[in-house]
Amino acid sequence: MNDYLQNSSLRQVLKTLNIPVPVPPILKRNGQAFSDAELQNKKIAVAGKESDFSHEIQQLLHAKSDAATIYDSAIDGLVVSCIGMQSIEDLEDLFTSVKNTVNKIAANGRIVLVSKIDTESITSFAVQRSIDGFSRALSKEIGGKKGVTVNLLKITNDDVKAKEVVNAATFFLSDKSPFITGQVVELNTADGQALTSQQQLLKGKVAIVTGGARGIGAAAAKVLYREGAKVIIVDVPQASEDAQALAKEIEGEAKLVDITKDGAAQELQNYVISTYGKLDILVNNAGITRDKTIAKMSIDQWRAVLNVNLKAVINLTDIFAQKGFSKNAKVVSLSSISGIAGNVGQTNYSLTKSGVIGFTQAVAATNKNIYANAVAPGFIETKMTENLPFFIKEGGRRLSTLKQGGVPEDIAELIGFLASPLSDGINGQCIRACGGSMIGA
Ligand SMILES: NC(=O)c1ccc[n+]([C@@H]2O[C@H](COP(=O)([O-])OP(=O)(O)OC[C@H]3O[C@@H](n4cnc5c(N)ncnc54)[C@H](O)[C@@H]3O)[C@@H](O)[C@H]2O)c1
Repeated sequence: MNDYLQNSSLRQVLKTLNIPVPVPPILKRNGQAFSDAELQNKKIAVAGKESDFSHEIQQLLHAKSDAATIYDSAIDGLVVSCIGMQSIEDLEDLFTSVKNTVNKIAANGRIVLVSKIDTESITSFAVQRSIDGFSRALSKEIGGKKGVTVNLLKITNDDVKAKEVVNAATFFLSDKSPFITGQVVELNTADGQALTSQQQLLKGKVAIVTGGARGIGAAAAKVLYREGAKVIIVDVPQASEDAQALAKEIEGEAKLVDITKDGAAQELQNYVISTYGKLDILVNNAGITRDKTIAKMSIDQWRAVLNVNLKAVINLTDIFAQKGFSKNAKVVSLSSISGIAGNVGQTNYSLTKSGVIGFTQAVAATNKNIYANAVAPGFIETKMTENLPFFIKEGGRRLSTLKQGGVPEDIAELIGFLASPLSDGINGQCIRACGGSMIGA
């Protein structure tokens, strides 16, 4: 992490001199393994429209946190159920629940809104859709000073139960999601495994992380290991030293394979099936940039990026989909906000990262036994971004609600969540972890 505005002495000097720079909030992060005590000691209030569903959410959440109400003086988390709001007037429940609470939300507090597609009338449909805009605006309004995040869980499948909502909400209410804000996440799936405990979420699972030797991939490998998985780090032979050292640290394995090489996917499939019999988690993380405006881009730069970032992702996933994935295997692929907004000098990269979103949607739609989700990081402090020119780096960091870049662990925790049964309600989605970046917002 080399964001100079996170340095406490420098922050003090700037404050003393009254220099008007956007001083970013210090984000609280929890790198401990998930447990049933994830939300313990957090005061969480449930408000909004009363319904059987909201009572169930309240019951489940209050069993794992300190129950609070919107009338308490300090609150760590607020969940507002908007389910059943059908008229413009109904939205006043949302207004009052948030208005009465917003100034009491502690630093690094969390707001999770819950909505549900309602096709009963044109108005009810519009009312539920309007909550997307409210949550995004609220995230921008209150996130910057204290690191408060606001996210919306939107139910789009009638079979989704309160339990699936609470499992997902647990992540968005926890200190494992400090860099995710302003997101609308659909809960569209209801046939996952029953989850009785959050202890060792990935026990007995076998995972591949491509590009796992460093950066986001290495952080993801550590999170998967922490949750109980056996992790196979796949990286290029040149990354041997880092890959081997990490494999030792996490009691995993390093496979030094260039994923763009002919036969690479087949080699990995053969290895995993003969050694473990199955693959439960595939993290398509390896990615490269070869930035140039299209007029100056060579065909080699075009091909290199497409081959690593998209072709290899499709090939590797496809081969395990044919043989090797266990039932309900989880595929998590790295997209980017560049794939959503586009970026100057990145036509090749943005194309691939947009392609990853389409690939994710297609895999989820066509494979009943596989969950596929994508993660779109914003500006993350890694080797990939280290050498960018200062002003581009500053733009990436400060043009966001939280006014800072994220760290690899922020993305790794989201990958861990999407690899785990906590996210069993979520399929075919792309979730941004971008600190509320204005780019592509
Ligand atoms: N850092 C960011 O700000 C950011 C933002 C958005 C998206 N992403 C995406 O996140 C992913 C990880 O990014 P990072 O910042 O950790 O990158 P990084 O450059 O630090 O690490 C990438 C890893 O991938 C490996 N790799 C590259 N080509 C490979 C190949 N052909 N076969 C096997 N391994 C290969 C590299 O050796 C390296 O270990 C990438 O897909 C990237 O596009 C990163």
